[in-house]
Amino acid sequence: MCDHRRILKNVANNENACNDDGGLRVDAWGCEGASDQLFGDTHVPAQSKRDAAPSEAPTPAIAGGPMSAPALTESELRRIHTSAGWRRDRVEVFETSLGRVIAKGHRPTRSPAPQRVLAWLARLVRVPFLRAPIVHGGARSQEIEIRRLRALRAAGIPVPKVLHVATDFFVMTWLGGDHLAEVLHRRHPHAFALWRDAAEALVGVHAAGQYLSQCFGRNIIVHAEPDPPVIAGLIDFEDDPLEIMSLPEAQVHDWLIYLQSTLWDLHAPREQVDAVLDRLMATERAEVRALFALACKRLGWLRILPESRIFGRDTIAVQAVAAAAHRWVGRHRQDAVAV
Ligand SMILES: Nc1ncnc2c1ncn2[C@@H]1O[C@H](COP(=O)(O)OP(=O)(O)O)[C@@H](O)[C@H]1O
Ligand SMILES: [Mg+2]
Repeated sequence: MCDHRRILKNVANNENACNDDGGLRVDAWGCEGASDQLFGDTHVPAQSKRDAAPSEAPTPAIAGGPMSAPALTESELRRIHTSAGWRRDRVEVFETSLGRVIAKGHRPTRSPAPQRVLAWLARLVRVPFLRAPIVHGGARSQEIEIRRLRALRAAGIPVPKVLHVATDFFVMTWLGGDHLAEVLHRRHPHAFALWRDAAEALVGVHAAGQYLSQCFGRNIIVHAEPDPPVIAGLIDFEDDPLEIMSLPEAQVHDWLIYLQSTLWDLHAPREQVDAVLDRLMATERAEVRALFALACKRLGWLRILPESRIFGRDTIAVQAVAAAAHRWVGRHRQDAVAV
């Protein structure tokens, strides 16, 4: 079995295992937050998510979506619905009869600054699919996220399970409190293996005919406790790149986002990084490889950006991905010609 299949299978096998207190444990792939990235998104401090104060207000009218079994109880839904935490912090974690779950409220309807930066960069390097997909905000983003979560789960990808849908929030399984960006930043002894595993998982997503969009390191949840640690799952699907690009473009967009958000903080020899990229990209569809080669060709000159951290993370993140892109072109002249 190839590696990305193994990772997806391990995750599927772990799911729904019972934890020590008898609750349902979702061991899909694990999360926690540092750093917004140039192509980044907002971060909610973990503490505020965990400090949820249950409310004793009367039963609210909860707009029901299709509910999967087993379901949250009425009193749990009431507690979640009336809580101020997710309204204030956008996400909030609750302990329930199904284990730990997370409620996610709407994002305001506005275009975040990173999207504008990304649009600018996409124009600068003439790689249109580098552009960030539209985040509509509000109910539309929620509708997209639920649709994407269900499609990805149906394809066997380890994403949270949607447990309840209301008009202004939804509830999903909680995957864990550590994420890849943080693990890389801490220079965890298994950082490189986790980076490689997440890249394997990305290839698995694409092999299933799917795409992620916001595959920043911070949206890749890691279970840091086991030895070795494992990728626990993927989160954050409020946009749908297929609104503005083709499937192969969305898959290359995934690669660029993944590399841009991780390489700058991955302290591994470049030969090892390149070897993983070569091996995994070889398993992508020819169209994806060709588009990736095109993007690499156009991004490569940005390697002239400064590498020093004093120029800020956004700059060194682009520099790191551009340097990798340039090395890619050097090793794959054939692919570039085929574009
Ligand atoms: N299913 C989940 N399991 C664990 N943590 C989650 C989950 N969903 C969201 N989070 C936490 O909430 C934060 C914000 O959620 P996310 O879906 O990434 O929205 P956004 O980044 O658009 O605000 C994440 O960075 C993560 O810390
Ligand atoms: Mg996020």
